[in-house]
Amino acid sequence: MIPAAGSGKRMGAGFNKLFLKLGEKPIFIHTLEAFQQDPNCREIILAVKNEEKHEIEAYLHQFEITKVTQMVEGGSERQYSVDACLSAYKGDGVVLVHDAARPFIRRAVIHALVQEAAVSGAAIVGVKAKDTMKLAPKGIVQETVNRDHLWIVQTPQAFRAEVLRKASTQAKADQFLGTDESMLVERIEYPVKMVEGTYDNVKMTTQEDLAIGEILLKRVQQEEEV
Ligand code: CTP
Ligand code: MG
Repeated sequence: MIPAAGSGKRMGAGFNKLFLKLGEKPIFIHTLEAFQQDPNCREIILAVKNEEKHEIEAYLHQFEITKVTQMVEGGSERQYSVDACLSAYKGDGVVLVHDAARPFIRRAVIHALVQEAAVSGAAIVGVKAKDTMKLAPKGIVQETVNRDHLWIVQTPQAFRAEVLRKASTQAKADQFLGTDESMLVERIEYPVKMVEGTYDNVKMTTQEDLAIGEILLKRVQQEEEV
């Protein structure tokens, strides 16, 4: 399940940032290729804006992305876009939610995540914080947080479908809006496992990320050549 229905305000391109190119391809095509090439991925459900559907379909065709089985209409918040994907999914397998704006997800990480979620029911990708982390409400340092316990969380996040459905139903009942799916699952007190990912799984959010993205793309291409 890939939410792609945002507007990319912080990128400031004046249109959905996912259409911006990294190398030769739009950002979201790089993201979809990771799953297209993963033999374990059976289908991709994409949440899009209605007015962008045709342009997206044309790109899927051009870049031979064949695993998108459904395109659903996204909502005003990311969580609503993911809800739309979840409603469209009728299976009972392990579902992954992954931001279309994270084109550098590695197949080995997806694999490790799915292995974990298949066993435990809920697992998310993150990396350990490298910097010293402090809690500073109102700009005044309260404490230095133990870095060993801190993770910077990314997507994908993977769940057995019934776990995510239950969490999503509860969030709707409580009108709770989270910034990731894990928050919803945490609220129903289902344990969520951390899977260590890679620092290059950055979200293309601002212009700087795009510059970093161009460098990362070159590195990935070099890796593929050797
Ligand atoms: N997304 C979505 N529906 C929304 C908002 C976001 O499907 N209503 C998607 C985005 O397209 C993106 C992912 O969720 O792939 C992560 O969101 P984010 O990086 O915040 O993208 P935008 O919301 O588009 O950017 P911004 O917050 O800067 O406007
Ligand atoms: Mg956003």
